[in-house]
Amino acid sequence: MNPVIMPAMPPQIQDQASLLRELVSDKKDVVRLQDRITGVRSIAVLSGKGGVGKSNVAVNLALALADKGLNVAILDADLGLANIDILFGVVPKFNLGHVLNGEKELSEIMFKVGERVSIIPGGVGLRELADIDEQSQSWMINRLSFLDEEMDLLILDTSAGIHKNVLSFAMASDLSLLITTPEPTAIRDSYGVLKSLCQATKGELKAALVVNMASDEKEAFSVAERIISASEQFLDFKIPYLGCVPWDSELRESVKRRKPLLLGDGSSVAVSYFKDLAQKIFESSEEGQLAKRRVRKDTFLLRLLRQAGDKEKQ
Ligand SMILES: Nc1ncnc2c1ncn2[C@@H]1O[C@H](COP(=O)(O)OP(=O)(O)OP(=O)(O)O)[C@@H](O)[C@H]1O
Ligand SMILES: [Mg+2]
Repeated sequence: MNPVIMPAMPPQIQDQASLLRELVSDKKDVVRLQDRITGVRSIAVLSGKGGVGKSNVAVNLALALADKGLNVAILDADLGLANIDILFGVVPKFNLGHVLNGEKELSEIMFKVGERVSIIPGGVGLRELADIDEQSQSWMINRLSFLDEEMDLLILDTSAGIHKNVLSFAMASDLSLLITTPEPTAIRDSYGVLKSLCQATKGELKAALVVNMASDEKEAFSVAERIISASEQFLDFKIPYLGCVPWDSELRESVKRRKPLLLGDGSSVAVSYFKDLAQKIFESSEEGQLAKRRVRKDTFLLRLLRQAGDKEKQ
């Protein structure tokens, strides 16, 4: 049964509730990502409703994490409307499709947009990758191994909703970052995505919640609480709350200027929130012991290809 996510509480009750929250301080009822998920090397950014800020979150998080010394690749996995390149104001010529048909190496299609940040345009190649047959898998793993050897973190920007491919990307990632805004439609759709993810991962879901375009932290927290309590009650999964990004007109301007907010002068409100989210993700990536995990075998691409192989067998 789909729960109806509760509408906002009347102001007087809300005041009491927030008072209570401050009393129990440090948000004990909210699960911390760092306590739940470690070793994050790949993050799929997801949402139910479109236009909630996935691409901007992916881009600014990538920049904030690169500032911490990580080599980050952003995989533009929005199969319909890829636009990470537009947010950076660049025009890459090649995509994963060129790697799959042998025309280019992965290192040649990765487009450097900062000292430690690159874009990987997915294009049609990504769809093919998710559907690849078993024989081509080991060949493909060799071609793509550069990614696991050279990059510390892969951030996937996906399309809205829970289509087959988005589900594959989420399941192959170490962490699914679910983005919502305070709009009731976005909240309801994010719950829908969470439900699909819970069903598909059979209790193994690694996800965290971000509330974007909130008017303030209090509003973001009450949105998060509604989603957390519905998911706990109906899905038996208490999603960790990673944090929020406030509504920021400067972010809109940065999109128009085609220069990400974190590459600006750093004065706008949302900047410190992106840095805070990045810090929590950084902590959950095993306190910087990334070099160690470079040898880890079970990476995003392997898992994606394995899923494709499993589908083949069915
Ligand atoms: N915190 C914010 N404050 C103000 N505007 C924002 C904020 N985050 C995103 N936006 C604006 O919302 C719009 C949608 O953002 P974005 O393209 O990142 O969303 P999306 O979820 O990736 O969309 P799609 O589902 O189409 O891929 C953009 O115009 C962006 O400038
Ligand atoms: Mg997008």
